[in-house]
Amino acid sequence: MTLSTDQLAQLDRDGFLILPEVFSPAEVAAIQSRLPALFSDKSDANVIERGSGAVRTAMGLHLRDPLFAALVRHPRLIEPARQILDEPFYIQQVKVNVKAAFSGEIWQWHTDFATHHGEDGVPRPEAINLHILLDEVNEFNGPLYFVPGSHKGPEHKAWLDDQTTSYPLWVTEIDRVRETISSSTIVSAKGVPGTVLIFHDTLIHGSPNNMSPWDRGIFSLIVNPVSNALTSDKRPDYKHHRDLTPVSPVGDDCLAKYEGEALKAAV
Ligand code: SIN
Ligand code: MN
Repeated sequence: MTLSTDQLAQLDRDGFLILPEVFSPAEVAAIQSRLPALFSDKSDANVIERGSGAVRTAMGLHLRDPLFAALVRHPRLIEPARQILDEPFYIQQVKVNVKAAFSGEIWQWHTDFATHHGEDGVPRPEAINLHILLDEVNEFNGPLYFVPGSHKGPEHKAWLDDQTTSYPLWVTEIDRVRETISSSTIVSAKGVPGTVLIFHDTLIHGSPNNMSPWDRGIFSLIVNPVSNALTSDKRPDYKHHRDLTPVSPVGDDCLAKYEGEALKAAV
């Protein structure tokens, strides 16, 4: 899959893209089928919600499961990233953010770069975040909120919030968020399972609690140019991988064998 000239222009203008139906229902079902076993691992790479004890985010997945080892090299993610970055890039972070029905907690307003820079010493805001919606995401189950155009302009002031949730995050100062929204708007990134979201490192985004009876799972792959690698190893490998090998795409049918396994397991 390649992005059109219009899509690249939209990404540059808004800082994000929402691309429906990039992955098929069978591919999403195959991805979903791997999650119960991963979530039940007693691993530090599974970050647990403070309130409910449910998994908030399961990280380092490409090192824990072969389906995810293929998915992080999927051409429908890697080809667009190549168009955007135009230089070799490595796998920085791989996770599923869960947001369980009734209990999934917020992700405060933030830019990814604030944490990449503040925690990992990444020099420049060049990483790209690629998401796949694994459930239908609607207005009730905690969609991502994007502030269009907020990736441009002066750096957003941020501070490390290690109190609000179980995941320490550099969050954007609220006055800055207010000011940015007042000259833009908020877009809610809703969509059917298999929708892909692509967004820039300095885009202001966040997401509310899941108050609905519907789980909201999102796969996220962050890639970063090798020339812009981390300079601090304060955080564990599963939060920012140390393997800087440039990523190359595998075949477009790389999930097919897992679709068969998922179907057999469902019978
Ligand atoms: C979320 O899962 O709602 C937040 C994801 C992100 O900040 O990239
Ligand atoms: Mn983020």
